[in-house]
Amino acid sequence: MTSLQGAVVLVTGGNRGIGKAVVDELLTRGAAKVYATSRKPEPSTDPRVVTLPLEVTDPASIEALVEAAPDVTVLVNNAGMDVPGNTYLETPVEDLRRVMDVNFFGPLELTRAFVPVIERNGGGHLLNMLSALSWVALHGGYSASKSALWSQTNALRVELAGRGIGVTGLHMGYVDTEMAAAVDAPKEKPSDIAKAALDGVEAGAHEVLADDTARFAKGAPGSPIEAVYTQLAG
Ligand SMILES: NC(=O)c1ccc[n+]([C@@H]2O[C@H](COP(=O)([O-])OP(=O)(O)OC[C@H]3O[C@@H](n4cnc5c(N)ncnc54)[C@H](OP(=O)(O)O)[C@@H]3O)[C@@H](O)[C@H]2O)c1
Repeated sequence: MTSLQGAVVLVTGGNRGIGKAVVDELLTRGAAKVYATSRKPEPSTDPRVVTLPLEVTDPASIEALVEAAPDVTVLVNNAGMDVPGNTYLETPVEDLRRVMDVNFFGPLELTRAFVPVIERNGGGHLLNMLSALSWVALHGGYSASKSALWSQTNALRVELAGRGIGVTGLHMGYVDTEMAAAVDAPKEKPSDIAKAALDGVEAGAHEVLADDTARFAKGAPGSPIEAVYTQLAG
């Protein structure tokens, strides 16, 4: 179990959207320091928030981040992108590779870089932002990237067991941020998602299903294909 009171937390993409809500909720819960990254960081008005640059696909950027944030005890892999295209047949392959680089390899590189840091600081926690779409193929390569990250998260949880680092995977449906701006469907509030995520971290939950969409999607892989992809029902 990881108390966030007094923790030093790194939130990738902590400048806006769900990441910003996580930063705010961490401060409410008494985090001692929060590193919030962006590709174009702006200084924070809160002295407990240190903004730092990060491009998750750039190893030099990750290396510089490790040097700048040596006291991290909790890593939140939040930064992610949607793929501009929902189809596999028409979306440029380069766009599909990019979404895997950002959403799958990015968090992996961050985790590999910060596990030794967290261990050196006495242990802590890893929170990976997944999606209901880890379990339902709906947004082309984006879903694939979140399925792959879900698998990575499950494997890391086992690899890190006994090393003092807990691992929580967070799943949710649409959330009201820039990423989902074009979606015309009910959306969760980022602050509610952040609270559910950090409750999970503090409880040592392996997995957080933050809304009804995630709770439905969790059952999808065990359901008949036609029940999930209703276009196929005769
Ligand atoms: N919104 C939803 O409906 C929804 C649902 C389920 C899961 N999620 C997941 O939740 C996480 C946060 O999403 P959001 O809705 O808050 O998205 P968002 O508002 O679009 O914000 C994306 C964040 O990721 C950062 N980012 C993107 N590409 C990056 C890169 N190459 N290197 C470093 N940082 C990068 C951005 O930082 P910059 O300032 O550098 O642009 C920004 O802070 C993502 O992993 C997303 O997949 C979102």
